[in-house]
Amino acid sequence: MLIDGDAGGLNEKQRRYINEVARGSHRMVDLVNSLLNVSRLELGTFIVEPEKVDLKKIVRSVLDEFKVKIDEKKLKITFVISKSFPKYLLDPKLTRIIVQNLVSNSIKYTSNGGWVKIAVGQVKDKILISVLDDGCGIPAGQQSNIFNKLFRADNARVLDPDGTGLGLYIVKTILANVGGEIWFKSREKKGTNFFVTLPCYGMRSKKGRRELEVVLPH
Ligand SMILES: Nc1ncnc2c1ncn2[C@@H]1O[C@H](COP(=O)(O)OP(=O)(O)O)[C@@H](O)[C@H]1O
Ligand SMILES: [Mg+2]
Repeated sequence: MLIDGDAGGLNEKQRRYINEVARGSHRMVDLVNSLLNVSRLELGTFIVEPEKVDLKKIVRSVLDEFKVKIDEKKLKITFVISKSFPKYLLDPKLTRIIVQNLVSNSIKYTSNGGWVKIAVGQVKDKILISVLDDGCGIPAGQQSNIFNKLFRADNARVLDPDGTGLGLYIVKTILANVGGEIWFKSREKKGTNFFVTLPCYGMRSKKGRRELEVVLPH
């Protein structure tokens, strides 16, 4: 309302300050929601509710969510999936959180004019999701910490001071609970390839107290 000028016009400086405050409060809400997710995962109180999920639609809608950023950075995005890729019994929210985090990282940690290649397929009895980028990569000496709660590599902190280091921890913990796996290959200044597998039989349903929150990572 203030930004829209409903309470009277704002000068440029006031508008900048208000935008900064709004950004800060969004970040805070996102952080609280991520911490709630961590707590629900660690306490095991989160719900898994599988239904027939179209991974093509999930990836496309995640890419739509990041469209502004992708255009701003002039990134070239490719997405490969077979036309007849079947639907699998997955929890749509959990699947979205996994895809969102991998895609957001590859967009965040790739410089202007770079590229991101997403591929989804089936290998034997597993669904395989691959997200490859030609971004800043992960320094060799820090790769073993990458799934630790709150950990962020030095080069990532420089590129994005606002990150939380919770995304991959959340993704890895979800996967550990639904029979999935995650791993990566990365070279500093060359790029990174994340791989996720999920069992083709899908996720098993689990009763719980709350669903996880879908937080759009920055
Ligand atoms: N595609 C990527 N390219 C380079 N570094 C990455 C990539 N994905 C993850 N990382 C590294 O892993 C760390 C943890 O990722 P994440 O948990 O999503 O936290 P955040 O994105 O908030 O920093 C990042 O800070 C970064 O160092
Ligand atoms: Mg992240």
